[in-house]
Amino acid sequence: MRVYTSKAELCAFISKESTSTFSLGFVPTMGALHAGHLSLVNAALAQNTLVVVSIFVNPTQFDNPNDLNTYPRTLEEDIQLLETLSKTTIVVYAPSIDDIYGSEMDSERFDFGGLELQMEGKFRTGHFDGVGTIVKHLFEIVKPDNAYFGEKDFQQLQIIKKMVEITQLSVNVIGCPIEREPNGLAMSSRNIRLSIEEKETAALIYKILQSVKEKFRYENHTDISNWVTTQFTNHPLFELEYFQISDSINLVPIQQKNQSKTYRAFIAVFARDVRLIDNIALN
Ligand code: PAJ
Repeated sequence: MRVYTSKAELCAFISKESTSTFSLGFVPTMGALHAGHLSLVNAALAQNTLVVVSIFVNPTQFDNPNDLNTYPRTLEEDIQLLETLSKTTIVVYAPSIDDIYGSEMDSERFDFGGLELQMEGKFRTGHFDGVGTIVKHLFEIVKPDNAYFGEKDFQQLQIIKKMVEITQLSVNVIGCPIEREPNGLAMSSRNIRLSIEEKETAALIYKILQSVKEKFRYENHTDISNWVTTQFTNHPLFELEYFQISDSINLVPIQQKNQSKTYRAFIAVFARDVRLIDNIALN
């Protein structure tokens, strides 16, 4: 498998490969790959001639130095996993911080039309400026036709679509469904940091979301939010950071249910210092 650490070499390879019928798929990741990431790569492989997978733990999107320092880094295993899908049609781009940012590791400031003010944006200062900055850099380097993002990070997916609209980059952003463990826990690189027992307990998060979906048919959103809060009150493992039901287009919290709109429930929970997020479509 080709693994590039330099954007110049990656770009040289891509331009050598491209022909008039060529289509380039791109899956940006921070590594510690799991079946959720691989589902994105498989979607990209099915629709493109060549797929670039980037593996880069982007410092500018972390507001918490401890989270950045403890973020799992498993490049060798990641490459082996990708090789099980294809050795020839996947190319890995695993740059250094310097290759991406040069000497100035700054975030661009974006106006995502309010999408950045909700949930992850509210609780992780500067997070989406960091995400927008890195994904914009990566899109400019890789110049993909199609880029794949998971609904696991639904707010991020909406923000990337907005960023493409603002910057007028010519890339088609494709959302892919959430992959889950057999017990329902959304797959995440951070799950590595949970013990087997904690992973079992964390099945509760998706169970709650499924109950929320059921309740949403006949209960009002305030009662549902209160119910979710009580599920975490005095919980031995979890601390609820936020629960929110939002319009799935603009992510604004629901006020009054409107039959013509679609809604999603979003949740962020700490299991010790491991932060877990999940979401579900409600209608
Ligand atoms: P990372 O957390 O590594 O995720 C990379 C991609 O995999 C994202 O699009 C994410 O939504 C998707 N993904 C993660 N878990 C998934 C799951 N269980 N099912 C489906 N897709 C899943 O998200 C990032 O990295 C970064 O913010 C990045 C976009 C790479 C910018 O640094």
